[in-house]
Amino acid sequence: MRIGIIGAGAMARALGDGWAAAGHEVLVGARSATAAGELAAAIGGRAGSIRDAAGFGDVVLLALPVDALDEVLRTADGLLAGRTVIDCTNAFAPDAAAPEGVTAFVLSEDAVAERIAAASGAHVVKAFNVCAAEVWESETRVFEGRRLAVPLCGDDPAAVQRVATLVEDLKLQPLSAGGLHRAKYLEAVSVFTVGLWFAGQDARAIFPPLDAAFAVAD
Ligand SMILES: NC(=O)c1ccc[n+]([C@@H]2O[C@H](COP(=O)([O-])OP(=O)(O)OC[C@H]3O[C@@H](n4cnc5c(N)ncnc54)[C@H](OP(=O)(O)O)[C@@H]3O)[C@@H](O)[C@H]2O)c1
Repeated sequence: MRIGIIGAGAMARALGDGWAAAGHEVLVGARSATAAGELAAAIGGRAGSIRDAAGFGDVVLLALPVDALDEVLRTADGLLAGRTVIDCTNAFAPDAAAPEGVTAFVLSEDAVAERIAAASGAHVVKAFNVCAAEVWESETRVFEGRRLAVPLCGDDPAAVQRVATLVEDLKLQPLSAGGLHRAKYLEAVSVFTVGLWFAGQDARAIFPPLDAAFAVAD
């Protein structure tokens, strides 16, 4: 696939590197030509502008802070409509109610993926927002005998399928998690889970396996 990546930071590097290694054509577009060029050279892709990346791909990854989205979507005006766009963003903001010395976050906005879809006309798929960039770039894919899963929320079946293929190309397990209206729950899962991790709690410990869970379909 042709994949445009907007942003040249940690998530752009982690995902772009894996996709380039899997044989995809990657174009990194960033506001800094130097940053785009350095990342593209490091992962074996091409570099360009934000508009180049927005118009390049079968798929476009938005690897940006949430507060950059308005400006970037304006810059990409018209180019994302009808395209598959991966939204990996998290709208984390400091939790003002956290005790002194404790790092905790809340969401500054609770439906970012839906906002991106409404503003751009893209087929947005929420994905990759739950785990850290270090996890996506790691070679470890199986923990305690289970392949790491990536929940996907999106409305367009072809777009979700395209992103599921990209998940598999990273040797991860795609997990279909419903329409884009459910992406806000993935955003909440992320801020909640990261809060537990930052507090030194094992978020994985709060879930039983499927066969011991209440909601097992007959
Ligand atoms: N890092 C993680 O572990 C992780 C995990 C899951 C989800 N996420 C989410 O993924 C998104 C990207 O995170 P990241 O860690 O990759 O961030 P990052 O390393 O800080 O990189 C952000 C990129 O966005 C660019 N950018 C910032 N403001 C911009 C603007 N106004 N216009 C154009 N480009 C702009 C930066 O360019 P400059 O260098 O020019 O500032 C940089 O290339 C965030 O929403 C984050 O919450 C991150």
